[in-house]
Amino acid sequence: MSRRKITVVGAGNVGGSVTQRLAEKNCYDLVLVDIVEGLPQGKALDLVQAGSVCGYDSSVVGTNSFEETAGSSIVVITSGIARKPGMSRSELVQTNTKIVQSVVKEIVAHSPQAMLVIVANPLDAMTHVAYRVSGFPKERIVGMAGVLDSARFRSFIAEALQVSVENIHAMVLGGHGDSMVPLIRYTTVAGRPLNEWCSNETLDALIKRTREGGAEIVNLLKTGSAYYAPAASVVEMVEAMTKDQKKILPCAVSCEGEYGFDDLVIGVPVKLGSNGAEAIIEYALTPEEKTALGNSAQAVKELCEQVDLMMDKKS
Ligand code: NAI
Ligand code: 2OP
Repeated sequence: MSRRKITVVGAGNVGGSVTQRLAEKNCYDLVLVDIVEGLPQGKALDLVQAGSVCGYDSSVVGTNSFEETAGSSIVVITSGIARKPGMSRSELVQTNTKIVQSVVKEIVAHSPQAMLVIVANPLDAMTHVAYRVSGFPKERIVGMAGVLDSARFRSFIAEALQVSVENIHAMVLGGHGDSMVPLIRYTTVAGRPLNEWCSNETLDALIKRTREGGAEIVNLLKTGSAYYAPAASVVEMVEAMTKDQKKILPCAVSCEGEYGFDDLVIGVPVKLGSNGAEAIIEYALTPEEKTALGNSAQAVKELCEQVDLMMDKKS
């Protein structure tokens, strides 16, 4: 039986959870790659055996080489170190640039038509690395962060207002860092704008908790970062592409003119379908929102300049 092939690079917390969720969909051939010998093979075997209980026949192959990834239609890149308490995502930049660079070269060689979903942090800069190294069209490189940040924002709103999270639509834009931009005017609860549901004080607290949502979990776990919600977010993006859903989700993509950014990877609303990031949706922003997005873009730009210097030195 041959199904659409999806590769997940990095068999750690996020990669393992993504592979499990995709295996349970029962419609993909999965390849899990890691540099640690035995890790992807062990997780793959475990996931195949879980299929006997859960009722799926997905093929899951674990490997330390990229040969078996050949012909993948989507590649999810989770390989990279995660932060520990007290670290910022940008402190991962040196190590993860090298990892993402080497992985993307392998993917280009083995799956030249693939669409890449980047997860490794710092997210926007690593998506920039993948875009630059792959030479793929910008539609085929998307970074996952906005879906996760918006999911966190939605869950905090649901808790504060005591309503179902399914009633809440939210868009968190900008870079995946402390200056991310939860767009209040475009956040609704059962179709009614969020600011009509709560005080400014509550709004500020919700925004702060969302911006610090990743660190809150790092501080609790102490040994690594979040992975259940990140994996669920990746799968929402993968399925939007494999099912050609044309779903509008906040994703990190290269903006070339949109939102006034020139050749900058940052989180914006994107229509995801079978061709990847098929369109960037431009929202009308107030001067304050533009300033907030501009500040976030400045932080991303500085990190991208750092990775460019690293890559130029090496080549
Ligand atoms: P983890 O440490 O559990 O797993 C990372 C895996 O990557 C390890 O198994 C490691 O052996 C593997 N790896 C390292 N170099 C490799 C290479 N060259 N080829 C193949 N595999 C390689 O970390 P976790 O929790 O899975 O996080 C992974 C990355 O994703 C981190 O950088 C983390 O910060 C990021 N992340 C980003 C999120 C986002 O919203 N964008 C959300 C959650 C995590
Ligand atoms: C998070 O926000 C680790 O960036 C990841 O949880």
